Amino acid sequence: MIIAIDGPAASGKGTLAKKLATHFNLACLDTGRLYRALGSTILKDRKDPKDLKVAVNAVKKVDLKSIQDIELYTEKVAEYASIVASFPEVRKELLGFQREFANYPPKGKLGAVLDGRDIGSVVCPGADYKFFVTASQEVRALRRYKQLQENGLKGTYASVLADIEQRDERDRTRKVSPLKVVDALVVDTSDKTPNEVFTDALSYINTK
Ligand code: CDP
Repeated sequence: MIIAIDGPAASGKGTLAKKLATHFNLACLDTGRLYRALGSTILKDRKDPKDLKVAVNAVKKVDLKSIQDIELYTEKVAEYASIVASFPEVRKELLGFQREFANYPPKGKLGAVLDGRDIGSVVCPGADYKFFVTASQEVRALRRYKQLQENGLKGTYASVLADIEQRDERDRTRKVSPLKVVDALVVDTSDKTPNEVFTDALSYINTK
């Protein structure tokens, strides 16, 4: 069983992914972390993320299996992530790892759930179930702002909103693997609790 979840920044993709993974005993991959790991490496090295060579080198440096770092969660890292994510060369390098994760989940798991921007469209076009999770920009900015605060990271609500706006625009308009709805159930999480979103997803799966 493969479940693809896509959507804009801080829309609740990861929350739904984790709940579905627990319920169906699936392995779970937040593919944004792969791009964030590249962004974080480039930021630490004080290099320019718009430089293709720098971006491709970062893919070679990063250990895709160990991407748990808290520093990955700053909006600066996310900005760098979305800049390098526009390079087809970078996306190609990450594709194999993601597909392998989807098709060969760890022992004991019955499949995989991946969340990102191009899972249903490019990484796993044949996924059994596809969701596009979204919410209003204000709700998403508030959620991300609270997350950053809980993790002791800096940023005002206004700066988080501006960052998210800019990143969504970049992710939606890039030439390669833009964020878009492809054969997916669209779930607007603005006025829903995580459990309500989970219940909606489950009933879709059960009736499909
Ligand atoms: O957590 P949030 O939704 O804010 O972002 P993320 O999923 O961690 O992704 C960070 C950035 O990586 C996005 O803004 C995208 O530019 C890029 N990304 C992508 O291009 N394709 C993916 N499958 C996942 C993330």
